[in-house]
Amino acid sequence: MMKIIRVKDQVAGGKAGFKVFADALAQGAQVFGLATGSTPISVYDEITNSDLDLSEKTSINLDEYKGLAADHPQSYHYFMNEHLFSKKPFKASYVPDGLAPAASETKCYDQIIADNPINLQLLGLGQNGHIGFNEPGTAFSTQTHEVSLTESTIQANARFFANEAEVPHFAYSMGIASIMQAQQILIMAYGAAKADAVAAMIEGPVTEAVPASALQNHPDVIVIIDDAAASKLK
Ligand code: F6R
Repeated sequence: MMKIIRVKDQVAGGKAGFKVFADALAQGAQVFGLATGSTPISVYDEITNSDLDLSEKTSINLDEYKGLAADHPQSYHYFMNEHLFSKKPFKASYVPDGLAPAASETKCYDQIIADNPINLQLLGLGQNGHIGFNEPGTAFSTQTHEVSLTESTIQANARFFANEAEVPHFAYSMGIASIMQAQQILIMAYGAAKADAVAAMIEGPVTEAVPASALQNHPDVIVIIDDAAASKLK
């Protein structure tokens, strides 16, 4: 079941997303799945400006670049510290360890998720319909896995690094199956560049060619979109 909330822009989306977050908390949610990227920043801003107490709660992030330490300025762990954890600490915050070997880290992360079932998972949406680092073609049955970044992603990321040799070629990401285990999912998308992905996610066939279409099979999904992102819906 997908419930769609239309908002005017990302700031309004942050307020609507904050309400979903605060409602989950009020209903006893203990574990929050979190995402990086530009989309969730307005929710994190609302959270950091609120009086919510997360000091007894747990967070589990979706993904991390392989090879980057938690304190590397381009790591997702660093991003989370900057936007949320430093201002609103959780009791425990898990982000995949980019320096750990793939086999042990992906297994360890699945165990963390099994031990801390996610009550509410926040997601952004890629222009090609990806969620987490699960690109089109990823099997819906995938748990936490090592992902090869596409050449276009590597090139797009290069501007953030001193030289191209530093740009990670791999990442660790929760899989589609890991994400689908969450009790409730909040996915947000803003801007015209996301309009095709939004339409495919909500109205298209459920297909591994569009990772976010898997969410049609989840019992409790909230979609927050602005008018531009909603512009290709029927
Ligand atoms: C982030 C993540 C990605 C982003 C997606 C959208 O942890 O896993 O799937 O959510 O690429 O990115 P933005 O929000 O920057 O448009």
